[in-house]
Amino acid sequence: MRDGLGSVQSALVLGGTSEIALATVRALLEERARKVVLAVRDPENSQEAVDSLRAGGSADVDAVPFDALRSEEHQTLVDDIFDRHGDFDLVLLAFGVLGDHAESERDPEKARLVVDTNFTGAVSVGVPVAQRLRAQGHGALVVLSSVAAERARKANFVYGASKAGLDAFAQGLGDSLAGSGVHVMVVRPGFVRTKMTAHMDAAPFATTPEAVAEAIVAGLRRNAHTVWVPGVLRVVMAVLRHLPRGVFRRIPG
Ligand SMILES: NC(=O)c1ccc[n+]([C@@H]2O[C@H](COP(=O)([O-])OP(=O)(O)OC[C@H]3O[C@@H](n4cnc5c(N)ncnc54)[C@H](OP(=O)(O)O)[C@@H]3O)[C@@H](O)[C@H]2O)c1
Repeated sequence: MRDGLGSVQSALVLGGTSEIALATVRALLEERARKVVLAVRDPENSQEAVDSLRAGGSADVDAVPFDALRSEEHQTLVDDIFDRHGDFDLVLLAFGVLGDHAESERDPEKARLVVDTNFTGAVSVGVPVAQRLRAQGHGALVVLSSVAAERARKANFVYGASKAGLDAFAQGLGDSLAGSGVHVMVVRPGFVRTKMTAHMDAAPFATTPEAVAEAIVAGLRRNAHTVWVPGVLRVVMAVLRHLPRGVFRRIPG
């Protein structure tokens, strides 16, 4: 359970090597989190991240294997994690791939990989996570969506479509869980400087993993349903969302 000041005590991160996720975990540890489980593709390669999180304080930090593409394993995996580690105040769904959009337009398998990871994988692990959170009767599921979910751009519509699906799933799940004690928060960052975007020129309103982490922690405190990072993107996207198609399609990038 969250402590008397409302701070998260325990967190499960799906996609635990994500830079945004690790910044969030560091912020939670500063706020006295005591238990962190990083679900990652390769626990051995995550040892450095685990050690650095352990170094900061007295938290119990563990890494467990998880692949978003192995949907058939998700129910068992989630049940094992909750059975072994107990309740979680927070589950952060952070995994995702950007893909190479030009390749996605040429090669259906590349496009499918983006959708299978960002959407299908998220639904297949999100359903058992929601079951366990509902059963424990408390906790938050935080889902890293994107501004790309709000309106798909021609430059990355496969990624945008995968995030739109994820975003809709998370919103619907949040409504389904209303009254259960479980809270779902959708986070829509713009361009964040991480390894995912290292090869790209920064977009307007570019931000950092630490700023996203801060917005997540603040959003959890006020039980927000939707968090934009930076906040101005809420207004920007409200305008872009309503532009006529012919105008929207001429926006570069
Ligand atoms: N960076 C941005 O501009 C931005 C903006 C909006 C939203 N987001 C979203 O925020 C989330 C985190 O992104 P980030 O910027 O922190 O990028 P990141 O550092 O590249 O993190 C992405 C994470 O996804 C994991 N992952 C990829 N495929 C996976 C799979 N099949 N199974 C399990 N894990 C898998 C990666 O694991 P490995 O270490 O094994 O590769 C990595 O930990 C993503 O969902 C992303 O779409 C990012």
